[in-house]
Amino acid sequence: MATTDAGLWCVVPAAGRGARVGSAVPKQYLPIAGKPLLLHTLGRLAAHPCIAGLMVVLAAEDALWPGLHEIAGKPILTATGGAERADSVLAGLRALRGKVEDSQFTLVHDAARPCIHAADISRLIEQGIRAGGALLAAPVRDTLKRADTQGRVAATEPREARWRALTPQLFRCGELIAALESARAAGIAVTDEAMAMEHMGHKPLLVEGSEDTIKVTTSADFALAEFLLARMD
Ligand code: C5P
Repeated sequence: MATTDAGLWCVVPAAGRGARVGSAVPKQYLPIAGKPLLLHTLGRLAAHPCIAGLMVVLAAEDALWPGLHEIAGKPILTATGGAERADSVLAGLRALRGKVEDSQFTLVHDAARPCIHAADISRLIEQGIRAGGALLAAPVRDTLKRADTQGRVAATEPREARWRALTPQLFRCGELIAALESARAAGIAVTDEAMAMEHMGHKPLLVEGSEDTIKVTTSADFALAEFLLARMD
């Protein structure tokens, strides 16, 4: 397919503060095996043959970005993010205008997910382009409990047909911009791209991804990510 042959751009939101790690340094700059988390993520994305370039979205006050212009021969551009993840993704997509046509597919991948498998990216692109939009996701394996305000079980939720949304997510650039703008105008807090597309009436395809595509959120996740990255090719 032409879009894939030409390569896809990937927006990488990296403008969060990572408050749950409890460090003064934003979590995307904390080291895993001696290298900042963000550079692991960018390196793995840039190494994928279907990815043409990366649009890294940084916080306005970011003083730690090393000023990279390419990784593995792939161009790296930067944009300034916003208050919420969706604002940062929208800023990244808008900054791609001129480079990416509205009708072209674009990936979005969290900076905080360094353990991304090349095979999962390939499957997402292949199936997602055919489906008109898709996300990597993993079926829920645990029993789900809903808590009351006292931290007691209010109900057991069904886990059948429940999936955890991962990234990357793949949508046409113009459609995703319109969906994120519409969610923002309606005051809907979308926590992933698919949610914005769902509000526009789309039904993104769930493409099963590896369970270990963890989002590094707490300090314990850093040790787990180091272990997982050491086992990846
Ligand atoms: O906060 P959360 O873990 O959901 O963030 C997921 C990704 O979105 C992270 O890579 C984070 O840096 C990014 N983010 C962002 N702009 C924000 C908030 C989060 O780019 N305002």
